[in-house]
Amino acid sequence: MVTGLTSIRTSEGKLEIVNQLLLPHTVEFIEIKTIDDAYDAIKSMKIRGAPAIASLAALAVAGYLTKALESPTAPVWFESTAAFKEHTEAILAHLFTARPTAVNLGAATRRLSKKLAALIEAGKDVRAIAQGLIAEAKEIDAEDVGRNKLMAKWGAEWLVEQVKNAGGSGDNLNVMTVCNTGSLATSGYGTALGLITHLHETGKLQRAFFTQSTPYHQGSRLTAFELQSLKIPSTMLCDSMVGSLFQHHQIHGIAVGADRIARNGDTANKIGTYNAAVLAARHGIPFIVVAPVSTVDLEIADGSSIPIEQRPAIEACLVRGALFPTVLNADGVKEQATVMVTPEGLEGVYNPSFDVTPASLITAIVTEKGVAVKKAGEDAFDLTPIV
Ligand code: MRU
Repeated sequence: MVTGLTSIRTSEGKLEIVNQLLLPHTVEFIEIKTIDDAYDAIKSMKIRGAPAIASLAALAVAGYLTKALESPTAPVWFESTAAFKEHTEAILAHLFTARPTAVNLGAATRRLSKKLAALIEAGKDVRAIAQGLIAEAKEIDAEDVGRNKLMAKWGAEWLVEQVKNAGGSGDNLNVMTVCNTGSLATSGYGTALGLITHLHETGKLQRAFFTQSTPYHQGSRLTAFELQSLKIPSTMLCDSMVGSLFQHHQIHGIAVGADRIARNGDTANKIGTYNAAVLAARHGIPFIVVAPVSTVDLEIADGSSIPIEQRPAIEACLVRGALFPTVLNADGVKEQATVMVTPEGLEGVYNPSFDVTPASLITAIVTEKGVAVKKAGEDAFDLTPIV
């Protein structure tokens, strides 16, 4: 069994994340001591990936409540259930706003909010409510790895079958992915990268292909690092080379993660996913979305209502790397050296962090509950069996 990197670690009451802005050249853990630390880490993308940011938000709430419980003088908001509720709800609402597209963050904060209401309804006292919320928050993080392994297995087995049905052997598969969906984006194993890892572990994978995923370079900085550490044979390509790859190499499947899946199957994921899906359809390559149930937003009918995060222009004007030694940024914070690739004062920059791939271009959606495909002739998924 291969083991992966980790995005979050907890030991002796300390909550730490690996600073993904510094990867792959510097592996540095930073401590998340407060709710604001967690909010800033998510917003600045020191931690990213839909499931990982949900886990961090939950664990930050657990840490905050643990400190309050252990404090020799109880905070004022411990004085009544109403005060506790108001204070905790405000924290959850604040964390929820850190990044808008990934619905997992909202699913985690909503789940804690629901638990809070249930514990109050059950007549628990403030300390018992805090303990109940801590347990729920830890559960949100802990359940991620197990469900990732399940969806990876369902997705990998489905792809092998699909290739066999099309007349192939189902062995030596070449699978492409976009962005980073591995251990660094989750609490472990990964979603789409988990599918690729499962194929590798079961001897079915020939090679993983992954796009650089500019401008943050989740592919070239993070997926490259993960695949290297997992010793999975892999090839990187620039985002602009996907069409060429499909023209000149036999690619058996594309597996991507998701930040939000609408009721009909339209899927928001890292910018560039839609391009890959259009090209996959053109080349008849199965396009598979792999994500936990918490990524499915049944309240949204289709992708047109998914909020798309626009990232600061500067992030598209520079590359991070290790050309120069690690430097201190303007706030005195350690950062990877960056190189501007645009002229100074460039006015217009289009920098959406995600795009929406219509369900019509998606062959299968996989969650921990199984695989959904569309009925013949239909353009939308019925996700009911897998949520
Ligand atoms: O902006 P990011 O790096 O948080 O975007 C990440 C993605 O788009 C992932 O594909 C998605 O969150 C799924 S991670 C298992």
